[in-house]
Amino acid sequence: MWVMWKGRFSKPTADLVQRYGESVSYDWRLFRQDIAGSIAHARAQLKAGLLSQEEFNAIESGLKDILKDIEAGNFSWSRELEDVHMNIESELTRRIGAPGAKLHTARSRNDQVATDTRLYCRAEIDEILGKVRHLQRALVMKAKEYADAMMPGYTHLQRAQPVTMGHHLLAYVEMLDRDADRLKDCRRRLNVSPLGSGAIAGSTICLDRHGIAVELGFDAVTENSMDAIADRDYIMEILFDLAVVGAHLSRMSEDVILWCTAEFGFASLSDAHTTGSSLMPQKKNPDVAELTRGKTGRLYGNLTAVMVAVKGLPLTYNRDLQEDKEPLFDSIDTVKLALDVNAEMIAAMTVNTARAREAASDPMLLATDLADYLVRRGVPFRKAHELVGKAVAMSISTGTPLNKLSDEQFASISNAYGTDARDVFELTKAFAQRTNPGAPNSDNTRRRIAYWEGILSK
Ligand code: ARG
Repeated sequence: MWVMWKGRFSKPTADLVQRYGESVSYDWRLFRQDIAGSIAHARAQLKAGLLSQEEFNAIESGLKDILKDIEAGNFSWSRELEDVHMNIESELTRRIGAPGAKLHTARSRNDQVATDTRLYCRAEIDEILGKVRHLQRALVMKAKEYADAMMPGYTHLQRAQPVTMGHHLLAYVEMLDRDADRLKDCRRRLNVSPLGSGAIAGSTICLDRHGIAVELGFDAVTENSMDAIADRDYIMEILFDLAVVGAHLSRMSEDVILWCTAEFGFASLSDAHTTGSSLMPQKKNPDVAELTRGKTGRLYGNLTAVMVAVKGLPLTYNRDLQEDKEPLFDSIDTVKLALDVNAEMIAAMTVNTARAREAASDPMLLATDLADYLVRRGVPFRKAHELVGKAVAMSISTGTPLNKLSDEQFASISNAYGTDARDVFELTKAFAQRTNPGAPNSDNTRRRIAYWEGILSK
């Protein structure tokens, strides 16, 4: 097989080296971007008078035919041609002859690969954003269904204060929204065209870089050819953004896993999103949530792999940079599937509201409210904290629930307690008093649900 760069070589590449160095087994998926980039590049050559109209037409229709064949699965990729770029160029030349050999004028695989991956990341970010929205929608629907379902909120995984399932689920909607925002920001920064940077220092043949950028939907052109060739920060950035999506999904998974235990018993998942045990007939395991938690490790690993690969490289291109692609593709694939499967899982999750409410009715959860009560009666908070701590200790030592301590027992701790102290233990009232923005009262939750419904219906 004729390989593009073989002119100065007299021996064929060793088979092991081909196997070691090939990237086409995974970078073939850049074919759409590679072909779009080549058509734009050829059009610039046409405008510059380097190609005749006939030559351009042959290149354009040849590339479009190749695109169709790849999409239909009728393209055979060759390892000897290393990567997606040389595979497509070589096939073009095989099909159309001489004009195909002109295509690579004023271009290098270095600016080509940078162009392809930027275009690829851009398209994938757009898809991922849709999937983030989809999961947010499922969470908002669930939050609406259980807007007032009271449950304990936890710090240190110890019961802390009452919240609602609605409030808890909306926390993830907020996190996912920042994830979407980060991805949009990354998209904005990466949407510049490196094409025309050549191998490192541009070309003596000056094509219309701006025209190419416009055709490919880029917002601008890169301003330094060495930066354009060497830089992979957009890949680190998207990998970081996806790692954070993973962090959020993983924490949500952990909550779901806990809720589905017999010990918590707050939620159950559909049979469709759980699996059984090959040995224990009673088991219904939250594997989807566990896998999401587990796969998040991969997302962090992918980010780390690229950061480490890049850190010691002298400018500009080094073949090490080829190692950016597998982590990139893996994180994108992993997050897309995770978002889809989690949206389905959440949409079908049911909440055991009675059980959650019973757990939330533990009067200890309102110990802080009792301290606030004392504050309203003029006791400094630190003192109030101590006085409630004493009541908690008395509750534990006498085996009396906190809300069942008698007037005398409260009075024996401090005369700051009035006979209405026990009123704070009314859960509904406790929620109603939390009127500040962001707090889990019913009005806030409903307002936020309406807000998200507006945003997510667009
Ligand atoms: N497959 C290569 C990569 O992904 C394309 C660029 C190759 N450039 C080179 N000078 N060998 O990095």
